[in-house]
Amino acid sequence: MSSQSQIKRVTAADIHARKGGEPIVALTAYDAPTARLLDRHCDLLLVGDSVGMVVHGLPTTVGVTLDMMIMHAKAVMRGAERALVVVDLPFGSYEESPEFAFRSASRVLAETGAQAVKLESGRYAGETIRFLVERGVPVMGHVGLRPQAVNVLGGFRAKGRTAAERAEILAEAKAADAAGAFAIVVEGVAEDLAREVTAAVAAPTIGIGASPDCDGQILVTQDMLGLFEWTPKFVKRYGDIARAIDDAASRYAGEVRARTFPEIAQVYRIETGGPRGPKSTKKRA
Ligand code: KIV
Repeated sequence: MSSQSQIKRVTAADIHARKGGEPIVALTAYDAPTARLLDRHCDLLLVGDSVGMVVHGLPTTVGVTLDMMIMHAKAVMRGAERALVVVDLPFGSYEESPEFAFRSASRVLAETGAQAVKLESGRYAGETIRFLVERGVPVMGHVGLRPQAVNVLGGFRAKGRTAAERAEILAEAKAADAAGAFAIVVEGVAEDLAREVTAAVAAPTIGIGASPDCDGQILVTQDMLGLFEWTPKFVKRYGDIARAIDDAASRYAGEVRARTFPEIAQVYRIETGGPRGPKSTKKRA
């Protein structure tokens, strides 16, 4: 008898079929226990390269490596059994050529078991997306504010301020769509532009700092949980985890200093049973 889970995992094709339908719920995840908690609520979990900033304390996502992404994706796959798991291709792992991108993407799929990759898709990326999709790698595009381009952009400013910028973002989205992307993240753009992009492409759009009219929404989980003092305008806090951690750590520190932790319930009182040692060691300590 197979011991494999009977839960059917959402596929990239399922997500593509959600265009204009029930909104797609997506969050980022970087570790197994968090992925386990988010799995039942989300259609898609993104192992985002935001892990560099959120978990590793890097100033931008530029320093994130493919090995880091693979390590975090393996952890997420151990925690999530229902949601589609999509893994970001980090800066430097796909831009050079479609062949180079395929080597990175195939490592991600083969080593982690995740089902799809995402790449920040400037207009040039259409060729790469097509190359990957034709070779069995589902790809999610990412247009608008592209954090990996921070050194060219000079910062993380919302996009769509000029006619040229709007035309460029629309063209990027259409290129990703025509190349076979199963979904497209639209990040940090003027609301009406996000609506225009959503109407112009066959793939569902997943907004972050975009529009409620996108086909789905994504947030960085730690942002929406309230882990950080500062968050971008587009983040809504659904929790106050920073306060919960601070409060718990403060009570723990107080009790350790007062010697009121550990209490009887948390210590082992083992009867030694004389010189031959413990009476029973059967139960796991
Ligand atoms: O890296 C990431 O978390 C992302 C999301 C913000 C879409 O790309």
